[in-house]
Amino acid sequence: MIAHKLIEKNIGLLVVLTFIIVSIGGLVQIVPLFFQKSTTQPVEGLKPYNALQLTGRDIYVREGCYTCHSQMIRPFRAETERYGHFSVAGEFVYDRPFQWGSKRTGPDLHRVGGRYSDDWHYVHLMNPRDVVPESNMPAYRWLADTPADAANIQGKMRTLNLVGHGYTDADIEGAPAMVEGKTEMDALIAYLQILGTSAPKAK
Ligand code: HEC
Repeated sequence: MIAHKLIEKNIGLLVVLTFIIVSIGGLVQIVPLFFQKSTTQPVEGLKPYNALQLTGRDIYVREGCYTCHSQMIRPFRAETERYGHFSVAGEFVYDRPFQWGSKRTGPDLHRVGGRYSDDWHYVHLMNPRDVVPESNMPAYRWLADTPADAANIQGKMRTLNLVGHGYTDADIEGAPAMVEGKTEMDALIAYLQILGTSAPKAK
């Protein structure tokens, strides 16, 4: 085949054609995901984070909790036995950016919501060793005496509405009152307690 010879002997042409073929392959895999309901629609019961949970989520990101904790339960027996239903795309519709991660110095946190009491989380975050003696998680004591940021919450919610979070005027109106007087610790715990609570029901 003449064409075959030409391509094999001409490295520039080979690179260009390879690139085109790989791009088509990539598009075929990726583009349909933008239109599949299971990846774009929230799972049943999933709501956008309320003002306090949203504040807590930003603290989670700021403190780099994701450097030790993933939020992505893989569909393997060993994971679902330990954490619960595997994570599905529709649970992350209101997560910008995602906190999936892959580093697990500590356990996955995607289904930690409701697993412990607020008091447990408080004690644990003040000093993890008080509840888990062998823990190497850092203590986050300052969160308990740092007021949560009520000044920027409305702006954040309005910005998230631009990408379809659907906060109502009443949600935004009431946001500062929900955050005011709370500490960063309260906000972080509110966030942890909602994580993964819209898990698909086990069949
Ligand atoms: C240096 C790594 C590290 C960092 C950073 C870290 N953790 Fe942990 N975390 C751990 C380890 C290890 C455990 C398991 C032992 C324990 O419970 O303390 C854990 C456990 C937990 C648990 C209990 C999970 C369960 O299912 O029992 C929660 C909740 C938690 N971490 C939240 C956080 C939050 C919130 C942050 C950020 C403010 C954070 N962690 C930062 C290492 C870390």
